[in-house]
Amino acid sequence: MHMLSRMLVPVDGSDNSLRALDHAIFLAKSTGAHATAMNVIESPPTVYIESQKLIDDIMVKYRTESTKILDRCKLIAEKAGVKIETVIAEGDAASNITGYAQREGFDLIVIGSRGLGKFKEMVLGSVSNKVLHHSKASVLIVR
Ligand SMILES: Nc1ncnc2c1ncn2[C@@H]1O[C@H](COP(=O)(O)OP(=O)(O)OP(=O)(O)O)[C@@H](O)[C@H]1O
Ligand SMILES: [Mg+2]
Repeated sequence: MHMLSRMLVPVDGSDNSLRALDHAIFLAKSTGAHATAMNVIESPPTVYIESQKLIDDIMVKYRTESTKILDRCKLIAEKAGVKIETVIAEGDAASNITGYAQREGFDLIVIGSRGLGKFKEMVLGSVSNKVLHHSKASVLIVR
């Protein structure tokens, strides 16, 4: 039985999340484990938006952006000689990451310490902090 067979790599497009991807690629190459890059689209706060059309337009832009981020991840991995899977989810980032990892039986989550957020006084961002606290799988935090 393998100690490490499937890694989930949550990416928000930040440099930090791409460093996490680099670590996962390294681990994939050295152990033969598989990696899946995941982006979660955190929906806009709909209570403040009255127009459904506007919400739909925003979601279309978010999905395009999400696809771009994951295509970039695929390309980075391909250049390093590794084939990765990608997945897009919508909703709360941390609960989607931990929920997906558990449902799909991932044994390691490789995540950045911080992401796109602007306030950097904490060591961990809210997503990496929640994932570390709630994940049943092991978590590798990449700085
Ligand atoms: N929407 C997301 N989808 C997938 N992974 C994410 C998402 N947001 C964050 N992550 C992952 O979590 C890591 C830490 O990001 P996090 O959002 O916790 O920090 P932050 O953006 O600096 O702070 P905050 O979002 O709390 O203002 C990222 O490097 C990335 O690996
Ligand atoms: Mg963030």
